[in-house]
Amino acid sequence: MPVAAVIGAQWGDEGKGHIVDLLANQARLVIRYGGGNNAGHTVVNDRGVFKLHLTPSGIFDPNTVNIIGSGVVVDPSALIGELNELKSQGIDTSKLFVSERAHIIMPYHTLQDNLQEQARGASKIGTTGRGIGPVYADKMDRSGIRAVDLLHEEILLGRLRVVLEEKNRLLTKLYNAKPFSLHDLYMQYLDYGRQLADHITDVHPIIHRALEKDFPILLEGAQGVLLDVDYGTYPYVTSSPPGAAGACQGAGIGPTRLSSIVGVYKAYNTRVGEGPFPTELEEGPEADTLRQIGKPWAEVGTTTGRLRRVGWFDAVMARYAVELNSIDTIVITKLDVLDSLPTIKVCTRYKLHDTEIEYPPSTTTILNRVEPIYEEMPGWQTSTSHIREFYDLPEEAQEYVARICQLIGARLGIISVGPERDQVIIVNKIF
Ligand code: IMP
Repeated sequence: MPVAAVIGAQWGDEGKGHIVDLLANQARLVIRYGGGNNAGHTVVNDRGVFKLHLTPSGIFDPNTVNIIGSGVVVDPSALIGELNELKSQGIDTSKLFVSERAHIIMPYHTLQDNLQEQARGASKIGTTGRGIGPVYADKMDRSGIRAVDLLHEEILLGRLRVVLEEKNRLLTKLYNAKPFSLHDLYMQYLDYGRQLADHITDVHPIIHRALEKDFPILLEGAQGVLLDVDYGTYPYVTSSPPGAAGACQGAGIGPTRLSSIVGVYKAYNTRVGEGPFPTELEEGPEADTLRQIGKPWAEVGTTTGRLRRVGWFDAVMARYAVELNSIDTIVITKLDVLDSLPTIKVCTRYKLHDTEIEYPPSTTTILNRVEPIYEEMPGWQTSTSHIREFYDLPEEAQEYVARICQLIGARLGIISVGPERDQVIIVNKIF
C-alpha cells in the first residue's frame, strides 16, 4: 500500500515539482495537501516548461487523478487562470478535483497580507503577498469561506454577510482602506464557483477508494519544513504545516497509511523572504555559482520573481527536518549546480558563544547569532548533468552525497542533475 509524502525539507523551492512529476506516472492519485499559490513548482517535461502554483504536478499524466486537498488554500482566480493556461497547452485538466473543504483566498486576504507587511516595516516577513497568513488565520478563527460555499448561492451570501462586515471594519478602521462591496464579492465568487463547479467535490470518497484498492498515492508538499508554522524559523514562516503531519491532515489520510516520507533537499540551501539563514553566502564567486543567474535553473522565486538567498548545505537544519518528520528517504536536487566549485562546504554543527550545538535554537534572535562550523570537501569540477548511475558520478560527488546522508541519517532515494525529467539518478525506488 504505497502512500508516499514528498515534502520540502529546507525553506521551500527544493525542486519538489521535478520529483513529483517524475513519480506521478507511477501514482494513481497525486494530492497537494497544503499551502496555496505562494508555492511555485517548475516542471520541465516532454510537454514543455510549466510553472504550477496550485495544480498538483501529476497533471501531465493523463491517467493520474489530481487532488487539491482540504489543507490547501485556493485563490479561485489564480486556479482558473492556471487551468486555462494548461488547457491552452493541450493538458487535460478534467481529472483535477478540489476539496470542498479547502479554504478560499478572498481579495480582502491579499489586501490584508500586503497592508500587514507594510505596517511591519523593518520587521516584515517577506511574504509572497498572496493572502496566505490571513486566510489560514480566518480558517482557524472559523470565519473562512470554503470551496463548497461557492457552489451554493444562499450559503455563500450568508457566510459573506457575516464575515465581510467584520473584515471591512478591520480594513477601514485599522488600515484606512476602502471597504469591499458585499454584492460585488458575492457575484464574483459565485461566478468562480460556476467556473470551477466540475472540479469542486467531496474528495474523501475518491481518496479512500484509492486507499482501499491499494493504489499508489503521492502526497505533494509545498513550501518546506523550515517554514513550518510550529517548527520553522518563527515568525519568518508560512502559516501552514508543510511537513509529514501536515500531509496527513491536509490530505485526510491517517499517519499509519504513509509508507514513505521523502524529504527533498537541494544540494545547497536557498531561502526567499526574510529570516535567519546561518550558512548564507551574501556575495562572492561561490554565491554567484549557487545563484546560477542567466541559466534555466537560476535561483529566482517561481512565484514572486525575487532573487533567492543562497548558502552552503546546512546539515543541522537538514537533520532537524528528518527528525521532525520521520523522513526515511531523501532526494538531493541540483547536484550539478556544484559542478564547477573547487571546494564545497557543509555545515555540520553550530557554535553559539563558546558552545557547539547540534539543534537550531527556537528563537530567531539567537539563531541569527550562531556561527556555522563547516567541513570542507573537495569539489569534482566536471559536469554531472549527463550521469544516470550513482557509481558513474565523480568520486568527490559520491562522497559529498554520502556525507550528507550520513550527517542527516536517511537513505538516499534520488539525485537530480538537471531540470529535465530524465536528468535523475535513481538509487532507491520510492514506489
Ligand atoms: P507566505 O507563505 O506568503 O505568507 O510567506 C511567508 C514566508 O514563506 C516568506 O518568507 C515566503 O518567501 C516564504 N514562502 C512561502 N511560500 C514559499 C515557497 O513556495 N517557496 C519558498 N518560500 C516560500
